[in-house]
Amino acid sequence: MGMTIEQAKMVLEQNGQAHVLRFWGRLDRAARGALLRQVAEIDFKDVARMRQTLEGKAGASRPVPRPAAVTRWTRGRHSEAFAAGETLLRKGRVAALLVAGGQGSRLGYDGPKGAFKIGPLSGMPLFYFHARKILRLKRVYGRPVPFYIMTSEVNDAATRACFAEHGYFGLDPADVIFFKQGVWPALDESGRLILEAPGRIFVSPDGHGGTLRALVKNGCLKDMAARGIRSVFYFQVDNPLVDIADPAFIGLHALGRADMALKLCRKNSPSETMGAVTRLGGGRYGLIEYSELTPAQAARFKYGSPAIHVFSLGFLKRAARKDMPLHVAHKKIPFCADDGLTIKPAAPNGYKFEKFIFDILPDARTVVNLAFDRAEEFSPVKNAEGVNSPETCGLALQAKWRRWLLAAGVAVPDSMPVEIDPAYAGCAAELKRGLLMRDVVM
Ligand code: UTP
Repeated sequence: MGMTIEQAKMVLEQNGQAHVLRFWGRLDRAARGALLRQVAEIDFKDVARMRQTLEGKAGASRPVPRPAAVTRWTRGRHSEAFAAGETLLRKGRVAALLVAGGQGSRLGYDGPKGAFKIGPLSGMPLFYFHARKILRLKRVYGRPVPFYIMTSEVNDAATRACFAEHGYFGLDPADVIFFKQGVWPALDESGRLILEAPGRIFVSPDGHGGTLRALVKNGCLKDMAARGIRSVFYFQVDNPLVDIADPAFIGLHALGRADMALKLCRKNSPSETMGAVTRLGGGRYGLIEYSELTPAQAARFKYGSPAIHVFSLGFLKRAARKDMPLHVAHKKIPFCADDGLTIKPAAPNGYKFEKFIFDILPDARTVVNLAFDRAEEFSPVKNAEGVNSPETCGLALQAKWRRWLLAAGVAVPDSMPVEIDPAYAGCAAELKRGLLMRDVVM
């Protein structure tokens, strides 16, 4: 998208952002080109919405939080849903959608979070655990589950390199589709774009809600349709226990003709920081962030959302046509002083904006909220230490693999770490069958 300096001047002046060009005279040719490209990329309608949000004009009315009822498995319901999900997988109707564009700042790892090594024996990264599960689905059901991976400007190249370096973990590269999410500028206290260097506007990823626009912009929804996809399994990069495209979950969503299905788990404590699904009336639901609840309200929600969803492709297409609400955070944003040097402020000096994927939930006409067993499927790597860290996730993985091994008749001493390649076994019963056939390598 080319833009001339005259065009840039005009659009910036029209939007009260002329200061963006204040160092123009000092920039060399390459820096000028880069700045013009950045200006061309900015959607000033979005910036206007950001300014409105700061002025408090766009404040959405908050629903009164009322916990949603959850569906629990009964044996009959599970087997019916499982069969329906297996049929969809056999017909190649299911895709996996991984959001991996985040900056992983809490973990503090230098690289895409998916490249963080978590395998206790293999030393393999988070991406390996996701990719090998998807490989297993192809082996079991005979059709590929196309794997869409959302990256961002900062980690796209490193993410692709991680897959290439590991031979796509055994997947066919034609079925691994990387796409980049968008970036959003930040605004200073007076609603102005922030220059972080003389020729660069500060931008950061636009949140996991940016998935919808990025899917459209990169032709992924069209690609899904061309591949005959109906159900899209959505998950986050940090949870290696996730049961990707779990047939029962996919099947329950399909049997319910639902737009969206959410897995919900029991919170570890009333104050655990998880999103809460609230009833809005008329069969509709919304998801409230933990930070928006008072402690007393949060305590009423026994279940939380770990961001494991199934969407129908039709719903994603419909939701992508709408603007999503903005979430704002007061942050420390590097800025460029009058002398052109970048300063890292000690206190918050501006606002970052993000979209959250769960904000499409109220538009879903039919929703399934499914309770699941947290110990089997959820232990994210968010922080460097303490709760939700590599250590707690490692323990959860060990416990899960040991349960599977025990169920398969193998008792392993506590002191011996174990690891199961997700491509070989997707559940305890499959591991047992594999061990009986002696084709499982441990
Ligand atoms: P989190 O907010 O938990 O993780 O996002 P993060 O952004 O990687 O880490 P922090 O908050 O900086 O420590 C949950 C999921 O959403 C993805 C992340 O990659 C993760 O899988 N995400 C988040 C995006 O894909 N894009 C974003 O802009 C933000």
